[in-house]
Amino acid sequence: MKTSQILSLALGISLASAAKPSSGCGKTPTLTAGNHTLTVNAKERWYLLNLPETYDHTHPYRLIFTLHAMGGSSSMVAAGQGGYLPWYGMPALVTDSVGAIYVAPNGLDRGWANKGGEDVTLISDILTAVKADLCVDENLVFSVGFSYGASMSYALACSMAHSFRAVAMQSGGNMSGCVGGTDPIAIYGEHGVDGDLNITTARHIRDQFVANNGCTPQEARSPAVGSGTHTKTVYQGCKEGYPVTWIEYDGGHTPQPRDKGANKTFAADETWQFFSQFK
Ligand SMILES: *[C@@H]1O[C@H](CO)[C@@H](O)[C@H](O)[C@H]1NC(C)=O
Ligand SMILES: *[C@@H]1O[C@H](CO)[C@@H](O)[C@H](O)[C@H]1NC(C)=O
Ligand SMILES: *[C@@H]1O[C@H](CO)[C@@H](O)[C@H](O)[C@H]1NC(C)=O
Ligand SMILES: *[C@@H]1O[C@H](CO)[C@@H](O)[C@H](O)[C@H]1NC(C)=O
Repeated sequence: MKTSQILSLALGISLASAAKPSSGCGKTPTLTAGNHTLTVNAKERWYLLNLPETYDHTHPYRLIFTLHAMGGSSSMVAAGQGGYLPWYGMPALVTDSVGAIYVAPNGLDRGWANKGGEDVTLISDILTAVKADLCVDENLVFSVGFSYGASMSYALACSMAHSFRAVAMQSGGNMSGCVGGTDPIAIYGEHGVDGDLNITTARHIRDQFVANNGCTPQEARSPAVGSGTHTKTVYQGCKEGYPVTWIEYDGGHTPQPRDKGANKTFAADETWQFFSQFK
């Protein structure tokens, strides 16, 4: 708290709901950790899968999609290379009894142009395959990404709000488009005030879900330039289960923004804090 200005606090409403075990629960899985391929739109696509060390086929896990940025790859996300923390730093933080399964899909041409919706179809097909084979809590499916990966997460929020519990957009835009975009879905967004991707677009995206989620519009404060801090706005009055959290930081376009003097990014902690409110 000392490094961020908490502009408003959640009212402490419970976001708990019963687990919704997927059809893969109880089955001996065929999907193993590692590389898997599938065909979408007549193209071969692939994704990396990360399973808990002791996978229990009767236990419904969270499912977290981790989407790479432009010029990135699933391998870089998995290895924590090229600026990413491994799997966006989630496995280091997700240490509760629910645990998580992670999927890092690989984009075409190192991005997520989502031409004709083919990348939304890819994620949808992976989701179907994973839920049918592994034990997933269908109420706890998430996506996180930086930059192009955030834009793709936005496309998922627009088209697949009923399949995802929440998405986290770390310095995103709308490069992957938005088909639909009228359903409520829990949204976390962070953006640098002087990033290469215009913050204006990211603020429009935020406001789209502030409206969809029935939150009370409010002025979100920006950090002073040169302050080396971030400001956090938790919107009030949102429909139960559909919160919006928005962070602006004094800095540019980076997957690991840090406050001045901090030895690690706040991005992973804040993303996990947002996801972990859903039980
Ligand atoms: C995964 O498999 C696909 C298809 O064989 C291949 O193109 C890709 O390089 C593989 N990725 C890794 C990280 O091995
Ligand atoms: C961002 O976009 C807004 C409106 O589209 C424009 O006024 C502003 O100058 C842009 N900012 C940068 C840094 O390009
Ligand atoms: C992306 O956002 C910008 C600025 O808000 C807007 O002008 C543009 O039409 C949007 N593009 C798409 C594909 O939604
Ligand atoms: C960062 O600082 C904290 C406490 O200030 C310390 O516990 C932690 O080990 C440090 N991490 C690194 C990577 O230096």
